[in-house]
Amino acid sequence: MTLNHFLARAGLTSRRKAAELIREGRVTVNGQVQDNPAYRVASTDVVRADGDLIEQPESAYFILNKPKGYLTTLSDERRRPTVVQFFPPSVQGLVPIGRLDKDTSGLILLTNDGEFALRMAHPRYQVDKEYQVNCFGVPDDRDLARLERGITIEGKRTHPAQVNMVYASPEGHQATLRIVIHEGRKRQVRLMMEAIGHPVKDLSRVRIAHLTIKGMQPGECRRLPMKDVDRLKALVGLQPSERAPVRETGRAPKQPR
Ligand code: URA
Repeated sequence: MTLNHFLARAGLTSRRKAAELIREGRVTVNGQVQDNPAYRVASTDVVRADGDLIEQPESAYFILNKPKGYLTTLSDERRRPTVVQFFPPSVQGLVPIGRLDKDTSGLILLTNDGEFALRMAHPRYQVDKEYQVNCFGVPDDRDLARLERGITIEGKRTHPAQVNMVYASPEGHQATLRIVIHEGRKRQVRLMMEAIGHPVKDLSRVRIAHLTIKGMQPGECRRLPMKDVDRLKALVGLQPSERAPVRETGRAPKQPR
């Protein structure tokens, strides 16, 4: 999180005013004046504004079962419904990790932990994202193999995917597949299905890593238990959640990566 965002989120002031405060040299990080609003605050940094200690905010992690019809964005200039209305009102600074299209339902992770969000979304960490896809027609084995190998969409090949046929209608009108991918390109599953000639009728994300939406109502948002957060953190090479003690001066000991 940037320094101006950090100050704004602590409720000190707006982001714009925070940037002014920083440029005026009134903010220190670990005892040194930091006049760059874009400085990225580490969880072990000690930040003061006009000498007052600004507490590091608690990291928060939630899981949402997004219903269809909502945009995965924090605000929409056309005032269409967004997922924000399902966020817990008492927790500040939550952002969705990755996006689901307006007409896609299912699992979205929410957090205010920037590093965690970046890693969970990055294909390098190979985090499974599983989709249930209902499509027009019944793809044949060749189509499924193309999805599995990777398919060129918008000039770039997708990474290999796991694909399973769950249901094929006897008349050949429709089918249900489960597709597991590690990327999060825009409209990726829809474009993959279009590329094999079986466009999506209905799409839902049913799993991220070990987390599923089983038992969750559409629109339900739950705080993730720490044991789940730690399991996800281990997957993306982060240490388990343990709040570094806020020290009055100097830098808290670095957490091993
Ligand atoms: N792929 C899509 O096409 N849409 C989504 O919302 C998510 C993955």
